[in-house]
Amino acid sequence: MKLLKEKILQEGIVLSENVLKVDSFLNHQMDPVLMSEIGREFANRFTSESITKVLTIESSGIGPGIMAAMHLQVPLIFARKRKSMTLTDNLLTSSVYSFTKQEDYTISVSSKFITSQDNVLIIDDFLANGQAALGLIDLINEAGAALAGVGIVIEKGFQEGGRVLRERGIKVESLAILKSLKDGNIQFADAATE
Ligand code: G4P
Ligand code: NA
Ligand code: NA
Repeated sequence: MKLLKEKILQEGIVLSENVLKVDSFLNHQMDPVLMSEIGREFANRFTSESITKVLTIESSGIGPGIMAAMHLQVPLIFARKRKSMTLTDNLLTSSVYSFTKQEDYTISVSSKFITSQDNVLIIDDFLANGQAALGLIDLINEAGAALAGVGIVIEKGFQEGGRVLRERGIKVESLAILKSLKDGNIQFADAATE
């Protein structure tokens, strides 16, 4: 997605070989116009899949998730990472390992909001090792729902998440795929003009 890649080149800050900071438009301050275009792009890429729900994980998945849900005209559900005072229903839960924090955390969604009738699109801001996406897939499986695919704003192509998901036959659509962050340079897997 050309608009996104231009924004990444203009405002992305390479923190290390492995980490790209994009807090001016995605992870802290959010650009609503760009986010709406991101949502429209996801909706276009998954338009033939008869999606009934979009599923993401708090907090940075919620922006792109709600915009994708708006363009698909379906509800967004965000999985919680912490226990919620009011979320006391029957819960779908999964344990996710964070490589960054080197610890497991539990994600949960009320079973009320994902059922066996649903065809679910997962949206997230980043795809690194894929643990968060795998946890969300667990929740969908627990509910007996179908997985339509995974939409990612920025995939780190040099980490294994994309391969892990695609090897399972999952449709993964990433709007920007980073090939490398070496020497402070942002390189995409395909042309920045696509
Ligand atoms: P994994 O699921 O792929 O194993 O992810 P990991 O634990 O390594 O990532 C932890 C957090 O860091 C996630 O957000 C993830 O989206 C984010 N992240 C991973 N790589 C990058 C990167 O290069 N740049 C940025 N900006 N973020 C990255 P989170 O902790 O769940 O936080 P949030 O959703 O509340 O923002
Ligand atoms: Na995230
Ligand atoms: Na994040």
